[in-house]
Amino acid sequence: MAIMSPVMTVMQKAARKAARALARDFGEVEQLQVSMKGPADFVTAADKKAEQIIFGELSHARPGYGFLMEESGAVDGPDKSHRWIIDPIDGTTNFVHGIAHYSISIGLEREGQLAAGIVYNPLTDEMFWAEKGQGAFLNNRRLRVSARKNLNECLLATGIPFHGRKGQKELIADLNGIMDNVAGIRRFGSAALDLAYVAAGRFDGYWERGLSPWDIAAGIVLVREAGGLVSGLTKDPVLETGDILATNAEIHNAVAALLPKA
Ligand code: IPD
Repeated sequence: MAIMSPVMTVMQKAARKAARALARDFGEVEQLQVSMKGPADFVTAADKKAEQIIFGELSHARPGYGFLMEESGAVDGPDKSHRWIIDPIDGTTNFVHGIAHYSISIGLEREGQLAAGIVYNPLTDEMFWAEKGQGAFLNNRRLRVSARKNLNECLLATGIPFHGRKGQKELIADLNGIMDNVAGIRRFGSAALDLAYVAAGRFDGYWERGLSPWDIAAGIVLVREAGGLVSGLTKDPVLETGDILATNAEIHNAVAALLPKA
């Protein structure tokens, strides 16, 4: 049975409260698809509202902690040793298009080290959570990364840079290096859930370039606590470069060797 610390209880409560607001908004998105303007502005508002709910809950429970948030940026607090790293909707493009695959991601840094993380999928009610040294869990079940050793049996995930993003050439080079060596590659559209799925052994590995700290902070804790390995693709620390490779412990070197370092 999973034993949750007080701070983990706070993180999960904040995510579930924001999720209730998002669920209502997600229900509206389908109606908006048919309008000329589309739901983009509506989703931006939903994103900000969810972030404010999480910000309010966490500030109330742990006054003084700092924040790094996708929508509102950095908010410093008097407590310099703690910082929340928050993505209120990871998988925004899915959300905009009414595709049921998005998550809320909350990471906690303590003394500059990732100490805890949750990735919550409100639509499946899957709460992935982990604290440093305490293991990783999906709801009440302990998580382990997969044990697959043979790359040709492994399912990997990645992301595809979209309009306005750099990295198209690098992704093509990555795919050229990898796709003939693995059982499959998926692009589901939420980096936080991709990492949670590695922790859960659903994916054997995941890589992506050009991410932001809020996309990956919580997921990194999950993968490490589930026995997986996380490294930078070019250099460390991953949170700063935004280039990440996360796999089970068996295939890390083999996948890294197939990815160009550029
Ligand atoms: C995006 C998702 C996506 C990844 C993008 C991210 P957002 O985050 O995590 O999977 O490929 O690079 O920007 O914008 O939905 O929070």
